[in-house]
Amino acid sequence: MTEHHTTPSVVIDHPEEIPGYTYGSADAPASPLTLQDLERLRAAVDLTEEDTEALEAAARILADQADDMVSAWRAKLREQPWLAGYSGHPDGSPNPEYSAASKPRFDRWIIDACTRPLDQAWLDYQNEIGLRHTRAKKNRTDHADSLDHIPMRYLLAFTAVVIATSRQYLAKGGATAKELDRMHAAFTKSVMLHVTVWTRPYVDPVNW
Ligand code: HEM
Repeated sequence: MTEHHTTPSVVIDHPEEIPGYTYGSADAPASPLTLQDLERLRAAVDLTEEDTEALEAAARILADQADDMVSAWRAKLREQPWLAGYSGHPDGSPNPEYSAASKPRFDRWIIDACTRPLDQAWLDYQNEIGLRHTRAKKNRTDHADSLDHIPMRYLLAFTAVVIATSRQYLAKGGATAKELDRMHAAFTKSVMLHVTVWTRPYVDPVNW
């Protein structure tokens, strides 16, 4: 299997085969955060046991759609010239190699965000994802020619797109309005928890 032929079934069934995906491996350096920090943040976003169940249902609906979701989000990033250079070449022109190489990891994140336990491996890989949006580690995994740092303001602003658009994909599962609300609320909390942890390398620890 080559980097450019990573099929959705690899994303779902064999994530360990995704190039550059170091979740749970010793290649992901330890997060500076503690499990107590994580527990407090989980409480702050109010991610409950009920949300965890709703996320499991969401994962079943989103797994086959993750690829389409990421394609749609990336299309939105390409539309805005001030965002295009972070996923494309530095001048904003398309960089299909970089897109293809990093996409399976982004696809996998949607499933992970719904299913992974909030443990040390979670903390360590979220730290890694945060770093991969910053000049500490961006472009390195895929040896990409692209701008080397995504400003935090865009990371945060784009969270709105990820959360708002996820509802239409969740709705495709045929859930009742109440179940859809539950899943969307749970997914919102999970996304906010992730992105909040990703901001850690951007900010002075005292301010974070
Ligand atoms: C809520 C907002 C965002 C989410 C949920 C998100 C999610 C992700 C995920 C899961 C990955 C894969 C990390 C890995 O496992 O290696 C990733 C990588 C990446 N994201 Fe984001 N992202 C967000 C915002 C942005 C924005 C605003 C941009 C561009 C303007 C962007 C561009 C990229 C790029 C270029 C990579 C590859 C990084 C690398 O070189 O390793 N992301 N993103």
